[in-house]
Amino acid sequence: MKTISTVAELRAALAEARRPLGLVPTMGFFHAGHLSLMRAARSANATVVVSLFVNPTQFGPNEDLDAYPRDEARDLQRAEAEGVDIVFAPTVEEVYPTGFDTTVEVGGLTESLEGAARPGHFRGVTTIVTKLLNIVGPDAAYFGQKDAQQALVISKLVRDLNIPVRIEVCPTVREPDGLAMSSRNAYLDDEERGRATALSRALRAAEQVVADGRIDAASVVGAARHELDAAGIDPEYLELRSLTDLTPAERVNGSTLLAVAARVGRARLIDNTLLKDKRT
Ligand code: PAJ
Repeated sequence: MKTISTVAELRAALAEARRPLGLVPTMGFFHAGHLSLMRAARSANATVVVSLFVNPTQFGPNEDLDAYPRDEARDLQRAEAEGVDIVFAPTVEEVYPTGFDTTVEVGGLTESLEGAARPGHFRGVTTIVTKLLNIVGPDAAYFGQKDAQQALVISKLVRDLNIPVRIEVCPTVREPDGLAMSSRNAYLDDEERGRATALSRALRAAEQVVADGRIDAASVVGAARHELDAAGIDPEYLELRSLTDLTPAERVNGSTLLAVAARVGRARLIDNTLLKDKRT
């Protein structure tokens, strides 16, 4: 495995790379969710590139950029164990040199949920992802369903800007007790770690209500909220949304997203599930 920190060296290495080429963009501190994306990329590509870059422009001024967990040595070992060919780990100056002054912004989809809670966040994400796609030129890029809105926004970005890449969205990987894997879980102490399981329990409760045939938003959201209440968690949002354009959904139909964000201690956690009315 090669570790590369400059765009010029990466382009030189990729000039000879065998195709198809798969890219897994990450901010590091790898957990089983990241590793599942590397595995998906490995199984479908001759060359796998993982980018490891804690992108400052997607963090708000009062967010956790400085505290964001990092362990590059361990990340490199884990990537190597997954058979990754190249880890691209640039510095902030390499990605955003003095004078950098261009951003990429997706409309509509970025205005609600995470976009409303974190102004400017998606502009940072779409700008870095556009840069990574331009630098690497992959045939496919791999993202997690854990960040459902991010995956939708990036799919829209490549469609709208005709970026020639296939976007693959991989299932959310969870801890045995249901908590969605996240680098930010490192912020939780034991008590908070216990309470954090309420997020996935809330989503499972909503799935059960739908399986029982109650598909209206009030029933679905109410069942989820009940689980959060019991754990003393007041969500930032808990919303039933259309999966195509993220507009509010009055009931579960074809494909409907139930998305939740909540603070547990220092950690801001997000999770989601895709609900489907079994009669549609
Ligand atoms: P990061 O949070 O490091 O996540 C990297 C990728 O791993 C994302 O596609 C994310 O959806 C996926 N992922 C995270 N947790 C997961 C889980 N439990 N199961 C499956 N996949 C999971 O998302 C980012 O970084 C950044 O915004 C990035 C796209 C790299 C741009 O900076």
